[in-house]
Amino acid sequence: MKRLKVLDVLTNQPIGEEVLVCGWIRTFRNNQFAALNDGSTIKTLQLVVDRETTDEALLKRITTGAAIRAAGTIVESQGRGQSVEMHVRDIKVVGDSDPEKYPLQPKRHSLEFLREIAHLRFRTSTFSAIFRIRHAAAFAIHEFFNKRGFVYIHSPIITGSDAEGAGEMFQVTTLDLDNVPKNEEGKVDFKKDFFNKATNLTVSGQLEAELGALALSDVYTFGPTFRAENSNTSRHLAEFWMIEPEIAFADIHDDMDLAEDMLKYVIKYVMDNCGDDLEFLEQRLVNEEKQKPQNERSPMPLREKLAFCLEEDYERLTYTEAINILMNSKPNKKKKFQFVIEEWGADLQSEHERYLVEKHFKKPVILTGYPKEIKAFYMRLNDDDKTVAAMDILFPGIGEIVGGSQREERLDVLQSRMKDFDIPEHEMEWFLDTRRFGTCPHAGFGLGFERLVMFVTGMTNIRDVIPFPRFPGSAEF
Ligand code: 4AD
Ligand code: MG
Repeated sequence: MKRLKVLDVLTNQPIGEEVLVCGWIRTFRNNQFAALNDGSTIKTLQLVVDRETTDEALLKRITTGAAIRAAGTIVESQGRGQSVEMHVRDIKVVGDSDPEKYPLQPKRHSLEFLREIAHLRFRTSTFSAIFRIRHAAAFAIHEFFNKRGFVYIHSPIITGSDAEGAGEMFQVTTLDLDNVPKNEEGKVDFKKDFFNKATNLTVSGQLEAELGALALSDVYTFGPTFRAENSNTSRHLAEFWMIEPEIAFADIHDDMDLAEDMLKYVIKYVMDNCGDDLEFLEQRLVNEEKQKPQNERSPMPLREKLAFCLEEDYERLTYTEAINILMNSKPNKKKKFQFVIEEWGADLQSEHERYLVEKHFKKPVILTGYPKEIKAFYMRLNDDDKTVAAMDILFPGIGEIVGGSQREERLDVLQSRMKDFDIPEHEMEWFLDTRRFGTCPHAGFGLGFERLVMFVTGMTNIRDVIPFPRFPGSAEF
């Protein structure tokens, strides 16, 4: 007999048919009613076991956490809360689970506790919902770019260039750390290392994506990136996934349009395809919110918030306009911000970003025209000589979700910017070559995938939207 997934059984309701299902037991009541989940849906299939004819020793093995194979007939359900159930003819315990020792009891566990048993948290309703949504969002991103004729580029994970300046890098080496070879100057002799040079894990695939775009026109990367910054926050990971499109013959406005379209496409895809999971997570948030004081509760239920971000045009304004708003804001005047903004040129902190989005505009915001000093060397210098054609997208509850820019396509300007940043030209000849041979205006951005998953699931800690989070002091599993 061919196995059916629980989702198929509940969707197609093959009443009167004999089917085979496999999965894990969530609960087993009265030696009779087993709730079976196989991860295909947030819902469980009720298995009705005949306790008169089933061996008692077998009944004892049907415990929370056990892996089960069950064959039986699908019937209309007598009980409330489900449409169909299975009258079990034959049930086998494929993998036993000691109910005394199984860490997941049929009750509410805290997210902190579940983080410590991340190897088992997939089995909970909350995390199975999150990871199905994470999958759906990843699929939607590929679908979005594919429909638009973008080419998926696999940028390298091990890199010999340290030019991006996006963050601290993790070094990759096969040198024996107890016996490091030294050169004449007494420094580490990387010529003896695996790649004959110092290498790191990449912080971004952008520079390679630019090379691709200057031939294939529209490309994107979607891969893991690594940053050894010591930021132990609820929005930072040391290993995270980033989507980086790069478009040729395009400017900062095309870039903003692309980013807004992409975000809306993914949010809509998740709303259209993950309804049950969103409903579950929304209810979870409602219950959580009840514990909070009235003024800290979020104003919108999850699905309403997502729909809102689909309908609204994102507010587009310049950094200069934003600084004026912030300098005149109550929390700045009353010195309520941790970092009070004194003058134009200040780097925006997450508290400022969230003020703009959540208090001032009350919708997603795209900021452009940042001071050149606080952004990367490759961003296109504006005519004012003071700002660059950067754009950051700020989301409610998240802050920065996207960072991007139009790129500096003029060789001489790029060279002089590299000088300002002390980036040695000889290390970047390959990058400069694109500006020497057939350069053109181009732009791109990076979307932090986990921040997007946080937004669509309503989860407030980034460690809960990636299966096995890496952060300072922790690389478990
Ligand atoms: O703003 P960032 O540093 O931009 C770049 O890396 C550019 N090369 C992108 C490009 O133009 N192609 O990072 C982009 C996004 C941020 O907006 C944020 O969403 C996410 O990546 N991000 C992180 N997410 C999780 N943990 C971290 N430590 C992150 N750092 C950045
Ligand atoms: Mg950024």
